Amino acid sequence: MDAANTLTLDDVSVNRGAGPVISGVSLTVRRGEVTALVGPNGAGKTSLIEAISGVTAHATGSILLGDTPIDKWSRVNRARAGIVHIEQGRAVFPSLTVRENLSLTARTDSEMEEALAHFPELEKRIDAPTALLSGGEQQMVVLARAFAARPAFLLVDEMSLGLAPVVFTRLFPLIRTLAESGVGVLLVEQFTHLALGLAGEALVVAGGRVAYQGPAARLEADPELLRRAYLGGAAA
Ligand SMILES: Nc1ncnc2c1ncn2[C@@H]1O[C@H](COP(=O)(O)OP(=O)(O)OP(=O)(O)O)[C@@H](O)[C@H]1O
Ligand SMILES: [Mg+2]
Repeated sequence: MDAANTLTLDDVSVNRGAGPVISGVSLTVRRGEVTALVGPNGAGKTSLIEAISGVTAHATGSILLGDTPIDKWSRVNRARAGIVHIEQGRAVFPSLTVRENLSLTARTDSEMEEALAHFPELEKRIDAPTALLSGGEQQMVVLARAFAARPAFLLVDEMSLGLAPVVFTRLFPLIRTLAESGVGVLLVEQFTHLALGLAGEALVVAGGRVAYQGPAARLEADPELLRRAYLGGAAA
């Protein structure tokens, strides 16, 4: 089965505890493009991403892979269909070696080698327990796993968290490399301008709603529009 070219949210809301933390999100992520999802802390970005990957159930609305609703699919089945989620915080298996971490997603040796080609630093540590790697190297393992998984869609939640700027500057362009290889990327990132610089479309979520949805370049060029959207007041 060929993977679908679009991942679509239709009027999705996500509940946490008492009620919705985010609602009214309609969005299409296309393979080969980066879509930026930004907004203040607590705006519901992680909740939305978790609803897409199936970590969390969404309350209303529909999520479609191509034309197929996947609302009732398990997380495992969504991952099998090519929706890969890089979670907030570094999600490595620390007691496994780098090679073992990669073999969780690489199906063949050549998939592992192709993924490692982006990270020469890791080849030297391939049989080391991942726990002994630096934070930046651990994030490389997470990214290498994403390369090896050959996703159709990649949901990236705050990859920069806790990384030194020099490491992040080295790793961030690989998101573009993934997109250029045909992956549809939904990118949550606290460094708004970096995310907007890579993205075609952007969403700002604030106050539980979509406060801006449109070209990333328009937001990047207009700091006042971005500021108002962060405050939740710039419906566009
Ligand atoms: N498991 C949970 N149970 C109850 N409330 C939750 C849970 N997880 C998140 N929340 C609440 O839902 C809201 C949205 O949180 P979420 O983590 O989605 O925001 P975010 O935009 O990712 O924030 P950040 O930028 O800080 O990562 C917050 O008010 C948060 O307190
Ligand atoms: Mg978050």
